[in-house]
Amino acid sequence: MIKSAMTTPDKTTSKNMTAKDKKLPGLANLLMSDFKNHRECFFAKMSDDSIALFPAAHEVTRSNDTEFSFCQNKNFYYLTGFNEPDALLILLKRNNIEQAILFSLPKDKNQEVWHGRRIGQEKACQEYGFDQCFTLDEQNELISQYLNGLTKVYFTFDDKQLNQQVFDLLAQVRTTIRQGGKVPTQLVDASPLIHEQRLVKSANEIELMRQANYISCLAHKRAMQKTSVGLFEYQIENEILHEFTRHGARHAAYATIVAGGDNANILHYTDNNERLKNNELLLIDAGGELSGYAADITRTFPVNGKFTTPQKSLYQLVLDAKTQVISAIKPGTTFAKLNDIANECLTNGLINLDILSGDLTELIKEKACKKYFIHGLGHWLGLDVHDVGDYHVNEEKLQCREFVTGMVLTIEPGLYIPTDSLDIHSQWRGIGIRIEDNIVVTEDGCENLTSQCPETIDDIEALMQCKD
Ligand code: GLY
Ligand code: MN
Ligand code: MN
Repeated sequence: MIKSAMTTPDKTTSKNMTAKDKKLPGLANLLMSDFKNHRECFFAKMSDDSIALFPAAHEVTRSNDTEFSFCQNKNFYYLTGFNEPDALLILLKRNNIEQAILFSLPKDKNQEVWHGRRIGQEKACQEYGFDQCFTLDEQNELISQYLNGLTKVYFTFDDKQLNQQVFDLLAQVRTTIRQGGKVPTQLVDASPLIHEQRLVKSANEIELMRQANYISCLAHKRAMQKTSVGLFEYQIENEILHEFTRHGARHAAYATIVAGGDNANILHYTDNNERLKNNELLLIDAGGELSGYAADITRTFPVNGKFTTPQKSLYQLVLDAKTQVISAIKPGTTFAKLNDIANECLTNGLINLDILSGDLTELIKEKACKKYFIHGLGHWLGLDVHDVGDYHVNEEKLQCREFVTGMVLTIEPGLYIPTDSLDIHSQWRGIGIRIEDNIVVTEDGCENLTSQCPETIDDIEALMQCKD
């Protein structure tokens, strides 16, 4: 990790650190107290005499007996920081006493020599701050004991295995009714509660995202410097992944998009297997994941280092839209208001370029620019790249929710004109442009986490001159 140009994790988190705080392994991470705080916030939302169950992810087979690289369930991670598969977190609130209980894989020399170290129950209690830790095979007996006498069960309804397990456990408690057993009667979807909580980030989460962005900006800069005519898209993808890993982001937050020329008009293009051609643009949508937190950045630049005149015109228009939108972000703003700004800016610009024709007010009203700006303006960002949290509030869900301090979102206007757009002058065809930044809502406006990634035409062309 290059520390000189960024705030180090140690420095920024130390102000909140207590003597008991321990960092989890890895270059940058939240503190144990952060994960404990997350649990405490969730406990505060639970009724008394209730239980919440949050499952870890399971390994996913890639082929035969090999697995994809493990990715933890993000709700579970947010509440535990624990990165092993198959575990289960229980939050138990009984007689106003709160207990966090972990069930996880047992220590097993034979398994560990093949598949890697396991934390085990003793260390999980000591290092992760759970009140009690048990092995997975103890879960059914203990959880049915916990359930007996409670009123509510919270879980997220999206894990088939857990859904079945909850119903089986409730059935087990039901068999004790004649001996005085009491079965919970309310099953509550925990998703909206945990999603709302994850939507607003703490200072330490934002610092991690600042670092994920810092690393991802380095990767985009490297890609700009390594790009040249004739290379394959996957060779540039490799440069990006190299830079992520070099700085501690072991994984990309999502499949990297390296799309030359007309490929940029396929929004989720991940084949990345074509050669880069002279006079075409290259769109790269790539973000590293740092300790579970995602960056999501897009830059578009010329393969040969110099924008053509039509490319310049369209690029500058997308950049102007992004700049205008970001300057309006502050608490109280909504995605609806930002969409109005983008719509007005892009429509006006497309008329000036003779790509749209007609009355400005009418075209704005019709959202005519959506013919070329074919996706949403942005989304929440956090542990998931398309992060959780509702986009609308109030019962009718009609009104876009107002931003509050600590929300993190992307802003990503784009214009897409595929080669088969025969109704448009040929100079524009085959151009796809998106520019995407990651923004934190602050008390008095916003912070652009992506500001270190070149975006002006001059800055991009200058950087591309400096091949290293
Ligand atoms: N990288 C996916 C997106 O921009 O939404
Ligand atoms: Mn995005
Ligand atoms: Mn993106």
